Amino acid sequence: MSLLDVQNLSVTLHTPHGDLPAVADVSLSVGAEETLGIVGESGSGKTMLARSIMGLLPRARASASGSVKLKGVEMVGARASDLRRLWATEVAMIFQDPMTALNPVMRVGRQIDETLRVRLGLSRSAARARAIELLEMVGIPSPEKRYAAYPGQLSGGMRQRVVIAMALAASPSLILADEPTTGLDVTIQAQILNLLDELQARLHTSMILITHDLGVVATRTSHLAVMYAGRIVETGTTRDVFARHRMPYTRALLESSPRVSNPAHTRLTAIPGRPPNLLRLGEGCAFAPRCGFASERCHRERPELSVPDESSHAFACFNPLEVGR
Ligand SMILES: Nc1ncnc2c1ncn2[C@@H]1O[C@H](COP(=O)(O)OP(=O)(O)OP(=O)(O)O)[C@@H](O)[C@H]1O
Ligand code: SF4
Ligand SMILES: [Mg+2]
Repeated sequence: MSLLDVQNLSVTLHTPHGDLPAVADVSLSVGAEETLGIVGESGSGKTMLARSIMGLLPRARASASGSVKLKGVEMVGARASDLRRLWATEVAMIFQDPMTALNPVMRVGRQIDETLRVRLGLSRSAARARAIELLEMVGIPSPEKRYAAYPGQLSGGMRQRVVIAMALAASPSLILADEPTTGLDVTIQAQILNLLDELQARLHTSMILITHDLGVVATRTSHLAVMYAGRIVETGTTRDVFARHRMPYTRALLESSPRVSNPAHTRLTAIPGRPPNLLRLGEGCAFAPRCGFASERCHRERPELSVPDESSHAFACFNPLEVGR
């Protein structure tokens, strides 16, 4: 049994303009100590997928179907109180902007304390000692001093380290990191990603790392899922997706990723055309209007995600590329 097992998860947002299929028929699994990368351009549904895995969707404006099991426990349709207990101890989410996770008018140490006291029931003094230990573990210098700082007194990189310390407070088995380094400068980005790597190895947690930048996941994940228009359109081992990708969209994403060999601030080639409007998806492949390989069939029929051989490499395309073969 996988740690996390998602089957046919679909999420519809009920917007004033109509029902928007933000996540469509997603299946994935994450094993113990595995790291799965989820990549896709802006608007492809990565955050919605992460939020729906966490059960963090507005109930009134969203409906979810399918199954999300963590250690065999079903989260879709479960009672909020049961979910809260499960999230608190098993899954931690790290968002793109650390300020959304931090209270600006509360000292950072107290925020970690609170997590420890509420989730683990530690006493005030035990929580303080553990919070300082956690700050030290995420590489914050002079942790006793920083314990008393307000978020605004810390740099962006330090704030994200505090958020990571909070995320680790309850010793989760899964960390869900949604663009954890966007907005930080390149050197700090690498430091934070390396920190997550180190912590994951040391604490034996699993991780889902969400990013629009394939450069980030190349060396840090074992498996990848590529998203487009709310669906997973290609998935497999990171090695296969990089070296033997079959989807024209994956290739376009790879071509638009920063390369290590490029000088800093190299302009990226964006994928030509616009992402589809999810309120007006047609019958065919959602990538067809932007795809150089589209045939007549692509415009009238949607390709299913399928595995053509005995490998675990799946893709949804009628005219797959023959890269690396
Ligand atoms: N609150 C909302 N109300 C209506 N539509 C939304 C809302 N939030 C997201 N969407 C839509 O859901 C789709 C998926 O958005 P999502 O934020 O998951 O994309 P993403 O892949 O995380 O993008 P990014 O890389 O920019 O973070 C998009 O079409 C977006 O417009
Ligand atoms: S199914 Fe057709 S339109 Fe879609 S990615 Fe493949 S070739 Fe392009
Ligand atoms: Mg997002």
